[in-house]
Parts: sequence; structure tokens; C-alpha cells
Amino acid sequence: MSYQFFGENENIFGYKDLIVKVYYSCSQLNIYLSLNYADRLTKDQTDGVEPDNVLKMISSKYETKVCYNLNEFSANLSKEPAFMPYGELMEEFEIETKPIDDHQQAEKRRFCLYKANNSVPGFVAYHERMQTFLLWFIEGVSYIEIDDDRWDFFVLYEKLPLTGKSSKPLSSDYQYCFVGYSTVYRYYAYPQNVRPRISQFLILPPFQRIGLGSKLLASIYSNYTDKSIVDITVEDPSDDFQRMRDIYDCKLCMQLSWYKTLAPNTEWSNEMAVEAKMKFKLNSKQVRRVFEILKLKLTNRNDPEQYRQYRLDIKQRLNAPYKKQINDIERLRQRKAISDTNYELLMKTNQIPREYRIKNLNKQYEEIESEYLQIIEKL
Ligand SMILES: CC(C)(COP(=O)(O)OP(=O)(O)OC[C@H]1O[C@@H](n2cnc3c(N)ncnc32)[C@H](O)[C@@H]1OP(=O)(O)O)[C@@H](O)C(=O)NCCC(=O)NCCS
Repeated sequence: MSYQFFGENENIFGYKDLIVKVYYSCSQLNIYLSLNYADRLTKDQTDGVEPDNVLKMISSKYETKVCYNLNEFSANLSKEPAFMPYGELMEEFEIETKPIDDHQQAEKRRFCLYKANNSVPGFVAYHERMQTFLLWFIEGVSYIEIDDDRWDFFVLYEKLPLTGKSSKPLSSDYQYCFVGYSTVYRYYAYPQNVRPRISQFLILPPFQRIGLGSKLLASIYSNYTDKSIVDITVEDPSDDFQRMRDIYDCKLCMQLSWYKTLAPNTEWSNEMAVEAKMKFKLNSKQVRRVFEILKLKLTNRNDPEQYRQYRLDIKQRLNAPYKKQINDIERLRQRKAISDTNYELLMKTNQIPREYRIKNLNKQYEEIESEYLQIIEKL
């Protein structure tokens, strides 16, 4: 998401063969920035326009200490093995990665998850460095106000056995390498309840697609099971996150009693949401989505009537807000709450021609179906 540093066109002006180096030490997350280039435009060549100050464009967004001297950065690397994660250990687990080709072997890797908050000594500064990754990987992201003590932080590390000799005594036989993290805000809900909302969620690219995101999500769910928790929501999920969440939530809902009797002609009922909320703290909107995915899984798309009914149900759900809006305007007129002129005006601005509406609903349906089919493939 480099446009978040360099603007919508993702261009850097003024250099030939430019290489920007952004290094992070894997445990402490110390940062090193540097620039290499074959040539740089001068002011004379550009009518006084300076080449972009690339390092400043990055560091100004970082809001944390950055090192520009490679010797200094390298000297600190010897302290990396002594790093101990902040907060309390929640879980330790192994993942067996599948070989990508014949030359690779299946490998068991150890990971651990820590939970921290802003009262853990040193964590605020660590978080300052950690959050700089977000700008590269999450669309339209912004930093959070860490002073607010309703934030929870879940940080994942790979736990690597330390090999080789070290001159200094080590605090552990392992080195902890940063893998990714998530922030969760505990929103207040009336009267004395909590609605945790997953805000930022990142697994670094080298660690993606081995199940770690799903594992982190599962651990977050199991951290908020208390009676006071209403349900868990997600702030502005990315497509990749939504896909991962759908797969996981579908698997959860397949354990619920309503799934056992689910059939292509089952209608949505609030009881389904209630059960999913009670057992897994899933929110109603997401359960409705899961219901539609699982129903599509059972629907025979070669049976014209069954398939037609499924499409109709989804389109009715999509059309419901529009229908409600039009009904509200009609009701206002019946109650004589608006004048005839205002009624006409409201209808004119809110009513969408039927033909256009049907075309739009068909398009929306197709997008939804293709998303759902991707999830079904993984179930
Ligand atoms: C979205 C994100 C968190 C997913 O994390 P992840 O660790 O890759 O998630 P998982 O490995 O659990 O699952 C992702 C995919 O890998 C697949 N997968 C899981 N384990 C696998 C394995 N052992 N081998 C191959 N594939 C696997 C999943 O089925 C899923 O497949 P799909 O994308 O084709 O549907 C990660 O891609 C990310 O951080 N993206 C950038 C930031 C972002 O979008 N954050 C969310 C903001 S709300």
C-alpha cells in the first residue's frame, strides 16, 4: 500500500534505478532506512523541482525512531536474541507447513501468542514500531490512540531455537520473531457489557497462508467468551480478512444445532443468530452471511427451481433497505406528515427505476455468489 507514503500514483520523482531499503530487526523491530540510486536529477534539470525526499516521506509517517546508519543498526542485532515478548503468554502451538515442491520437506514450526496492553512497561514504544507495518499492508489504515486503556493487543511470534554460541548469557533458549498482531477495542455496551471490535489485523507476508491468521482470529474469539461480551465485530474488514473469517465462522456454525436441519428451503430466523451469539459471540450480520454461504453449499444449482429460490432470497435481502426507504416515504404521506410536493420530491430523489434496480441486484448477486463459492470450496 505504498500510496500511503508516496501518493495515489505511487511514483517517486527524481531518481534513476532507485532502491529503497526498509529493514526491521525481527525481534525488537528496530528500523533502518536507506536509499541507493544510480543517478539523481538536479534542480537545473527540473526547473528548480527537488527530487522527492524519500526517507523523509517514510519516516514522517512512522512516528518512531528510525536508524539511517547500517553499522549502528547491525551493532544492535546482537541484542535481538535477548528479546522477550511483552505481556502475558496466551498460547503456544505448532504448525506443520506443507512442502511447496519436491525439494522441500514438511516442517514443524513453533509459534506463540502474547496479550499486552498500554500498561506493560516498554510495550507502548514497541507498538510504535510494530504499527509502522500497517501502512504498507492495510488499505486506508490509521494509527490508534494507545493512551486509551480499552485497547487489547495480541502479538504473534515465531519461536526459533537459538543455535550457535553467544558470548553473553541468554535469557532464553529461543529467539522470538515478530509475525503479526491484532488490536481489539473493548467498546462499552449498555448496561455493563462489552462489544469487542477487531480493529487492525496483520500477518506479515512471509508468514501468510499457513493458517496463522485463522489461528489468531480463533484465539481472539476464545479470549472474549465472558458473559458480559455481547458479540465480536470487525472494523472495515479487508477482502482477504473477510474470506478467512467466513471460512472460520462457517466451520464454527456447522457445529450449531440449526446447521443439522439446514436445507435449501430453510428460511433465515433470528434464533440462528441467537445460538451463534451465545456459543461463539458471532454478531448477527455475520451469522446471516454464514447462513447464506451454508445454504448455498446445500443448494443444487442444477435444480432450476431450487437455485431460483436461493437467488430470490438473497436479492430480497439486498433489496430490503431500498424497500424500507420507499415504504417510509409512503407512510409519511399516509400520515399526512409531508406535503404532496415534498412527497413527489422525495420519491423522485429516492426511487430507482425498476429496470436499473433489477440489473443492479443481479450484479450484486453475482458478486456475492462468487465470494460464497470460494468459501464453500474450503469447507
Ligand atoms: C488477511 C490475513 C490476515 C490472512 O492471514 P493468513 O495468515 O494468510 O490467513 P490463513 O493462512 O489462516 O488463511 C488465508 C488463506 O490461506 C489458506 N491456508 C490456510 N492454511 C493453509 C496452509 N497450511 N496451506 C495453504 N493454504 C492455507 C486459507 O484457506 C486461506 O485461503 P484463501 O485466501 O484462498 O481463502 C493476511 O493476509 C494479512 O495480514 N493481510 C494483509 C493485511 C490485512 O488485510 N489485514 C486485515 C485488515 S482487516
